[in-house]
Amino acid sequence: MTSSTRRVVVHAPAKINLHLRVGPPGGDGYHPLVSVFQALSLFEEVTAAATAPGAGTSVTTAGRGAAAVPLGEGNLAVRAAHALALAAGVAPDVALHLRKAVPVAGGMAGGSADAAAALMACDLLWGTGATRAELLALAAGLGADVPFCLVGGTALGTGRGDVLQQVDARGELHWVLVMAQEGLSTPAVFTALDAARAEGSVPAVQDLVPEVPAVLAAALHSGDPVAIGAALANDLQAPALALRPDLAATVAAAGVAGGLGSVVCGSGPTVAVLARGTEHAAELAATLGAHGETKHVCGPVPGARQVEGADLSPLHPAMRGRAETATP
Ligand code: C5P
Repeated sequence: MTSSTRRVVVHAPAKINLHLRVGPPGGDGYHPLVSVFQALSLFEEVTAAATAPGAGTSVTTAGRGAAAVPLGEGNLAVRAAHALALAAGVAPDVALHLRKAVPVAGGMAGGSADAAAALMACDLLWGTGATRAELLALAAGLGADVPFCLVGGTALGTGRGDVLQQVDARGELHWVLVMAQEGLSTPAVFTALDAARAEGSVPAVQDLVPEVPAVLAAALHSGDPVAIGAALANDLQAPALALRPDLAATVAAAGVAGGLGSVVCGSGPTVAVLARGTEHAAELAATLGAHGETKHVCGPVPGARQVEGADLSPLHPAMRGRAETATP
């Protein structure tokens, strides 16, 4: 980048959890997690444009669910810009524009992707010289999923989900996302899990082993989608289904339709269904359209990255030119 750069555009991916185990909450209210994340070809796009000195931070939004996104200090991209400016000792002068594609409150880390993309875009715009480690530390302070949106790929997350280690995963997976109109509150789903465990309606907390379960590790290493589909697991699925009983029908329909496996994304309500390949994904997307808006995406994809211009297609290269069942 040169000092004449006036605008930086960054894409950051949505995530799903192939495996999510949740421990009892700590004193800070956060739950220890063992998570296997995968980044998907569904991207938030953040443009960071230079403003007049002293103008401060402004934000505008467009795209999927944009009206539901706060525009003040509660906006995660704004918080990211402010955190970076403070750490780097620069003025937080930037006009941010978020082009959203990830469902708001959909369990896919859309807000975290905004924060990750804003961190990278502002870092490039301002030329702060922050190291990768410094950006990751700032990301972890913004939210548990923000570091993963920076690194992408397929990764084991421990701690709050923010301590990351890449996982050996071969091949490309085809997922059909079934997206709901109404989002789910992440804290409400964690609280429902705690309550269900306290009353004994879901199994008590197991010991959290901070590694990829052997069966899933072998499946990812081989890249066999049938084995991966059989190994999907999420402790937040039961409380998400309890809060949103309609999701049980989506999960059941995914099995009847021949999905290799399905899992609620994070705290829901999006459901991810694994397909054998492109054609199978198109069939599943058509069949499951009765349960919500469907979209065919691929994983894994890289984390946040600068793109050449705002008009680039936000699609993974593997998806270019393919028919899609929905557009953001
Ligand atoms: O970190 P983030 O802001 O994305 O998390 C949203 C909410 O999800 C937290 O406020 C907390 O209620 C819940 N959460 C949790 N344990 C985690 C991650 C998130 O309880 N490890």
